[in-house]
Amino acid sequence: MKAVARPAELRQILAEWRGEGQRVAFVPTMGNLHAGHGHLVREASKRADRVVVSVFVNPLQFGPKEDFDRYPRTPEEDGTLLKGLNVDLLFSPSVPDMYPRGRNSSTLVDVPDLSGILCGEFRPGHFVGVATVVAMLLNLVQADCALFGEKDFQQLTIIRRMAEDLLMPTEIIGVPTIREADGLAMSSRNRYLSATERVIAPQLYATLSATRAALASGKSGIEAVEAQGRTILTSHGFRPDYFSVRDAVTLQVPGPETLERVILVAAWLGRARLLDNVRV
Ligand code: PAJ
Repeated sequence: MKAVARPAELRQILAEWRGEGQRVAFVPTMGNLHAGHGHLVREASKRADRVVVSVFVNPLQFGPKEDFDRYPRTPEEDGTLLKGLNVDLLFSPSVPDMYPRGRNSSTLVDVPDLSGILCGEFRPGHFVGVATVVAMLLNLVQADCALFGEKDFQQLTIIRRMAEDLLMPTEIIGVPTIREADGLAMSSRNRYLSATERVIAPQLYATLSATRAALASGKSGIEAVEAQGRTILTSHGFRPDYFSVRDAVTLQVPGPETLERVILVAAWLGRARLLDNVRV
């Protein structure tokens, strides 16, 4: 596996591969890799001759009071895992490599219909930070396809829309959520959970699954199941930011045109903010 930090070095290697007619798949991450990331990489290998992974904890997508400084950084473990998965190129730039003029002087990418709702309401500026760094990375790598997890469903929806609106040539592929045996969606932030909270955490997915069954039965309306979901989570000790049924394409409140619905949740448990979703 080659490892580079500078955008110019990355471009050079990619130009060689493209000259040889190789197909490239790209998996952007913030590191502290787990089996969920590993699954994205395996799916990437099936779709291309070369796999590029980026590890960059992007300051632009963290609010001033959020966990940028204490976000887990485990470069050695990440490198070992990626080598074991036969990744061809690891790109791990520094903050000045990505934002040479400083993070406050960066050109920004906004997807206005989608970035202020759900998580965007609770994390102002977060999705502008995500869309901006993903646009930069996609421009840099110019991959044939890039893979993102459905675990971050709103993020995936925003990236799809951005790529479509900005006529980006890279195909955006969504990959199903990888879970622990007890249902908890794998996440780098699960390590913020205490032992007691870790026992409670699977109730997030359990509540989503019960809500999906209630909705599918057709006996309960959307507002009733949303209220019930929030009540159940609160009774287990979560502090829900939102528990919402939405149109799976537009992320707006479902209407007559809705073909598929998704139930999305963000809830705090101790100092961990957990995200999950299921499609109905
Ligand atoms: P990060 O949280 O490291 O996630 C990197 C990718 O892994 C994302 O596409 C995410 O949805 C996916 N992922 C995380 N947990 C997963 C799981 N349990 N199952 C399947 N996929 C999972 O998301 C980010 O980084 C950043 O916002 C990024 C897109 C890299 C931009 O900075």
